[in-house]
Amino acid sequence: MNPLSLAGQVALVTGAGHGIGRASALALADAGALVIASDVDFARAAETEQLIKSAGNAGVAAVADITDEEAMRKVVDDVVRTHGRLDIVHANAGVLMAGTALTQTLDEWDKTFAVNVRGTFITVRSVLPQMIKQKSGAIIITASVSGLIGEPDLAAYNASKGALVNFTRQVAVEYAEHGIRVNGICPGWIETGFNDPVLGHLDPEELGQLVGRQVPLGRQGTPEDIAPSVVFLASDWARYITGQLLPIDGGLTSM
Ligand SMILES: NC(=O)c1ccc[n+]([C@@H]2O[C@H](COP(=O)([O-])OP(=O)(O)OC[C@H]3O[C@@H](n4cnc5c(N)ncnc54)[C@H](O)[C@@H]3O)[C@@H](O)[C@H]2O)c1
Repeated sequence: MNPLSLAGQVALVTGAGHGIGRASALALADAGALVIASDVDFARAAETEQLIKSAGNAGVAAVADITDEEAMRKVVDDVVRTHGRLDIVHANAGVLMAGTALTQTLDEWDKTFAVNVRGTFITVRSVLPQMIKQKSGAIIITASVSGLIGEPDLAAYNASKGALVNFTRQVAVEYAEHGIRVNGICPGWIETGFNDPVLGHLDPEELGQLVGRQVPLGRQGTPEDIAPSVVFLASDWARYITGQLLPIDGGLTSM
């Protein structure tokens, strides 16, 4: 069998109703996995389910806020009861609020950490027991280049993604003995609307100039630029890779 094939595997993607999570859900399903597309916004998750099915693949929508441990556990319990297993988790949902160390409000700081750090922590600990039982699993955490470098106006976001970078390593080290691999992806600037709080005030020409200066490949990425790496990290081709953070950024962090 093609080692990139995920046939027979069950995958859960959070934040699967839009952007990177949706593209990842579609790509994992295209590689043969049955995908549970979960989002806090059920209508968006249901759209992703429809897109997966229109492509002739298997997908089911689910609703859960990743900050709600009970809701996440319920999603995972339902998956295991219905499908018997859970092999791949893309812990992807996140939020961004602009602010400097002086302008970022404590409320924004707390909300950013509640979703990005605590929510990812909840996602990971909701799925670990089943993966330990199966003695296998692949977890992919969406960190960011924002967890590797400092950027203006992103105090809480940079700090939260930095936390995910080392959380990825910590979980990888702790659960390797159970056959569970944990890796992170670090997307650069991806056109989903997510960066509007920091880039939205620029007109197209200004944005083009900024991208031209900061991204060696000369363009923003798309969710479809990210998804193949998720499939790879989930697959048997990546069987000896764990605890790693993969920048997918058009060269941004090499500048
Ligand atoms: N877009 C970028 O440039 C970029 C770069 C690096 C990393 N990221 C990360 O990628 C991830 C997805 O970003 P995107 O650009 O696809 O964003 P997006 O806004 O296009 O999609 C995010 C999805 O997550 C869902 N979501 C938000 N909060 C949630 C919660 N508490 N529980 C469940 N679902 C929730 C939203 O409803 C939405 O469908 C985030 O973790 C983000 O930090 C994005």
